[in-house]
Amino acid sequence: MNFRTIIEPFRIKSVEAVKFTTRDERVAALAAARYNVFRLHGEDVLIDLLTDSGTGAMSAAQWGALMQGDETYAGSRSFYRFERVVRDLTGFTHVIPTHQGRAAERILFHTTLAPGHIVPNNTHFDTTRANIEVEEADARDLVIPEAHQPALIHPFKGNMDVGALAALLDRDGDRVPLVMVTVTNNSGGGQPVSLANLRAVRTLCDRYRKPLFLDACRFAENAWFIKQREEGYGRSTPREIAREMFGLADGCTMSAKKDGLANIGGFLAMNSDEWAEACRNLLILTEGFPTYGGLAGYDLEAIAQGLVEVLEEPYLRYRIRSTEYLADKISRAGVPIIQPAGGHAVYIDVRALLPHIPALQYPGVAFVNALYLEAGVRSVEIGTVMFGLHPDGTESPAAMELVRLAIPRRVYTQSHIDYVAEAVIGTAEIKNELRGYRIASAPKALRHFTAEFEPM
Ligand code: F0G
Repeated sequence: MNFRTIIEPFRIKSVEAVKFTTRDERVAALAAARYNVFRLHGEDVLIDLLTDSGTGAMSAAQWGALMQGDETYAGSRSFYRFERVVRDLTGFTHVIPTHQGRAAERILFHTTLAPGHIVPNNTHFDTTRANIEVEEADARDLVIPEAHQPALIHPFKGNMDVGALAALLDRDGDRVPLVMVTVTNNSGGGQPVSLANLRAVRTLCDRYRKPLFLDACRFAENAWFIKQREEGYGRSTPREIAREMFGLADGCTMSAKKDGLANIGGFLAMNSDEWAEACRNLLILTEGFPTYGGLAGYDLEAIAQGLVEVLEEPYLRYRIRSTEYLADKISRAGVPIIQPAGGHAVYIDVRALLPHIPALQYPGVAFVNALYLEAGVRSVEIGTVMFGLHPDGTESPAAMELVRLAIPRRVYTQSHIDYVAEAVIGTAEIKNELRGYRIASAPKALRHFTAEFEPM
């Protein structure tokens, strides 16, 4: 038989109950959270699609590996296993563990940036941008123009605009200490970057003598998209493709909370001896000794095992197909989304869905809050709240107004996802009743995490 159903490539050994709430309870919980779902208690959420970061289920092999954790302060066996796995995958000489991705970013940027520098990227994630701006440098997004048209189908919508990068390097090359590419491009819809594009970026980096760093959080998902969509790679394994991606770069930052299949952890890896030494010195100051970098030995074991499992074909086939399954369901019902589906998430185009709510009344927040009230599903705004406030204190609409439904890895079953589809479609049906929000109070950077809102 030729089966069309793609089943979860695992069975469940341990379960965790979710709590059902009434609508009245959710109304009270959201008011207490000042209308910011980041401030909700996780227990008051039925299905949590806030993020795919650190929320995945570990395998039996990972839980088993935890018991092999060596908690030696310096020179732990677990570090050497971790280092071997990361080197094997990336080919980079220096492997520096960190407690999560943003710690790797902070260490890299604090070591390499000076005020006035520019860091190009396809699209900077919020913490990446913030860690560049805190050094008084400029985080420049240079994704291809197709990425800004949500409904447009393009196989590699995460690609860097190579022409724009060449122009930047030509004009302001002396202010660019490194080039970054984010795989997959999270803030641009979880869209992949092709190997052809990475190669073109590499060529430019060679011409202008700039190191290329990958923000590699979702490298395995990116590799799967290349296998599916890029000519000549259908027969390559995800590992071969991933190695080719890393082989085009000089280093990477990584959050192991995504494609490390771990609940915490990350790393910074690179070939430059000089930068690595400076980074290790900063690591000791803020994260810990270079053989643990803010992690326990057992965390290093879980990540080492996760980095192997994440490249298994049955896992990646199920992973990418299940995201697409949700995208297909809501899009067939008329909900506008970024096309095609991203790897780790589905992104609703709320600018198209809620044209009656202006950007500075945060339509993304309006939808996120309504979806929680109607169904107990938590999603996240990726729009003007997240990206609209600039370092000089001015505010302007973000490039896109999105609501992201991020799918934790190996956590929810198809019936959970069917429920989410019903919830999203039902919330979209009452769109005319939704109203905007105003910000009652917010910090100056990364305001989306803690801002307090008031309904208009
Ligand atoms: N880069 C990208 C592309 C990310 O998506 C994230 C985190 C980071 C860096 C930072 O990693 O959280 O380990 O410090 N993204 C999460 C998200 C938080 O919800 O998309 P971290």
